[in-house]
Amino acid sequence: MSAVTEAGREAETLPLEKLNVADPRLYQEDSWRPYFVRLRREAPVHYCPESAYGPYWSVTKFKDIMTVEVNHETYSSAGELGGIQVEDRPKDMSRPSFIRMDPPKHTQQRRVVAPIVATEDLNNLEGTIRKRTARVLDELPRGETFDWVDRVSIELTTMMLATLFDFPFEDRRKLTWWSDVAIANVGAADAPVHSEAERFAELKDMAEYMGRLWAERAAAPPKFDLLSMLAHGPSTRDMPLLEFMGTLGLLIVGGNDTTRNTMSGAVLALQRHPDQWAKLRANRALLPAFVQETIRWQTPVIHMRRTARVDAELGGQRIRVGDKVVMWYMSGNRDEEVIDDPEGFVIDRPRPRHHLSFGSGIHRCVGDRLAEVQLQVLWDEILKRDLTIEVIGPPVRAYSNFLRGIKSLPVRIAA
Ligand code: HEM
Repeated sequence: MSAVTEAGREAETLPLEKLNVADPRLYQEDSWRPYFVRLRREAPVHYCPESAYGPYWSVTKFKDIMTVEVNHETYSSAGELGGIQVEDRPKDMSRPSFIRMDPPKHTQQRRVVAPIVATEDLNNLEGTIRKRTARVLDELPRGETFDWVDRVSIELTTMMLATLFDFPFEDRRKLTWWSDVAIANVGAADAPVHSEAERFAELKDMAEYMGRLWAERAAAPPKFDLLSMLAHGPSTRDMPLLEFMGTLGLLIVGGNDTTRNTMSGAVLALQRHPDQWAKLRANRALLPAFVQETIRWQTPVIHMRRTARVDAELGGQRIRVGDKVVMWYMSGNRDEEVIDDPEGFVIDRPRPRHHLSFGSGIHRCVGDRLAEVQLQVLWDEILKRDLTIEVIGPPVRAYSNFLRGIKSLPVRIAA
């Protein structure tokens, strides 16, 4: 019996309190759908009393997720309370960054990096993104199988990061490595690191390497790259080491994995829905909506977690101070009450931006426009070349309940 069918039966028959959607296997096997269908139907705000991560609440409906997002005074992101993942990070190895902070410090630090991805500056970056994308596509083999993730998704997003940091271009795969280390589930057999201590040591190497670049930028006049901006920003220039590690980790993962996995997920979406590719080829004005649909369909960030600062009521349930509250974007993006045919891949939805993949509220993704530009340029250049991308084998998916990762995807482009 396939993993998917087995999961469907288990999802329907387990007692409700036994449903544990934080099990990373569900995402590695891509068998999560029936669990969330049942939760949305029977227990939209659901308490799981026992899991590898302790007890936690699951929020699975679009509107309840929005309630948590916009009430940051009740639902905190603070690292001291546990941060943003269902799995608590060991306290002695916590690496603060502004995604794990509440106002006012969150607001101050976010303000420092926001300008690099602001709209007018993106126009300057678009030319570079297009040139690099064109080169990567032109160098792909024709008529032979290759890994789309490595040759396209990783290559393009790593180049982008190197540009944002003004990082030595020949060393750019170090950024990919640090990103993989930062997000790895250390319990997974194929993880790049197998303990928190190993992860910490690798990220310390990152901090040393970046520290050298930081010192150069701090000594020079301010310029337009993330390191220089952080090194000169009043609320970031004196960051202690752990915060420096955390902030760089955030920017590297934020700008890398999410966009990378959307580039890979889109290829799978098109394999399953070839009619939508035909629709796009016939009407290129649909490109921005197509890009949004790939972001919704993939939902690169599976969840974000908050911790209740006070007692609260949510979807008819009583949340108590200190409770872990997990917003499952994967589920909110498939909420049949808000999105028609949510399992479908539909590139001409009337409200293509109406999804939760970028979150909402004060932590809403700061790099959303940049991600959209990268994705739009990629698919525009693919359309210009009229490339047909054929999926040759199944994807290898990551063992993670946080980022929906595709580790490899064999494809072929017609000769
Ligand atoms: C398709 C691509 C992307 C997706 C799906 C995505 C998703 C997300 C999500 C879900 C959040 C948290 C939102 C919340 O808690 O409400 C977030 C925050 C963030 N993202 Fe992205 N992201 C993407 C691309 C990027 C890029 C390209 C960058 C960097 C250049 C970036 C940098 C950040 C940062 C710094 C934060 C923290 C914002 C804060 O705490 O105020 N992201 N992103």
